[in-house]
Amino acid sequence: MGDPLWERMRESGRLAGHPVRFLTETDSTNSVALRLAADGVEAGVLVVAETQSKGRGRLGRGWSSPMGTGLYCSLILRPILPLADYPKITLVAGLGVCRALEKVTGCRPGLKWPNDLYLDGRKCGGILTETGPLTGEARPAVVVGVGLNVNTEPHGFPESLREKAVSLRMIMGKLEQRGPLLAAIVEEVTATVRRLEQGDFSVMLIEWRQRDIHAGKEVAWVSTQGQVVRGLSLGPDQEGLLHIRDSSGMVHAVLSGDIDQVRK
Ligand code: BTN
Repeated sequence: MGDPLWERMRESGRLAGHPVRFLTETDSTNSVALRLAADGVEAGVLVVAETQSKGRGRLGRGWSSPMGTGLYCSLILRPILPLADYPKITLVAGLGVCRALEKVTGCRPGLKWPNDLYLDGRKCGGILTETGPLTGEARPAVVVGVGLNVNTEPHGFPESLREKAVSLRMIMGKLEQRGPLLAAIVEEVTATVRRLEQGDFSVMLIEWRQRDIHAGKEVAWVSTQGQVVRGLSLGPDQEGLLHIRDSSGMVHAVLSGDIDQVRK
């Protein structure tokens, strides 16, 4: 399948007005972007790879990155935001990726707090936001990494992921061009982070909640210390923390960890 925009990006080193560092193979586009940011690279630079040998997910997990079938990219930003607002970047970036997929492919992805994209009950993408040094920099760098399963076939995922992972191709029944998708993702993520800088989080939160796959569902939260809380998901609050109401009526505000739906 031809993908003229992808080819042009490779040749010109530009996409949607952004400078692109294109790599056929790398460890992790987030690692490359963090190194570039430490060297003082400007905001807006996009790192793209055809495959990653050490793709990273949240909570120390890996990200399966089969050659040429997915999008593995990291956008370097230097947002004008207080540090307390940084957790919101992951949420609004997820919203941006959803909007891009909706616009380009017509599918309706769901969001799972804080950073997962879902199609048909299975994970098709994720966001990993990482920061460089936060002190001594006028505009600290924030790297927004996006992984998206685009044209991966079921056997292209490692065995352990086959039940849980899905690609756009598996849902849409056809190959998708990655160039237009990536251009839309970069545009939409840049736009949502700009709206965050302008104080528009409350409105984006409404849009996020419309796509929340756990809205009104019973979920279990496993904290990083292994503590489990079960209750009703009330969705993210104005700070981006997930609220869960347990059976005693107590509301837990969750900052990190894993959320799973409780199946009865
Ligand atoms: C998650 O699901 O926990 C987040 C996955 C994020 C994966 C992307 S792929 C591009 C970028 N580089 C990485 O090493 N990780 C992110």
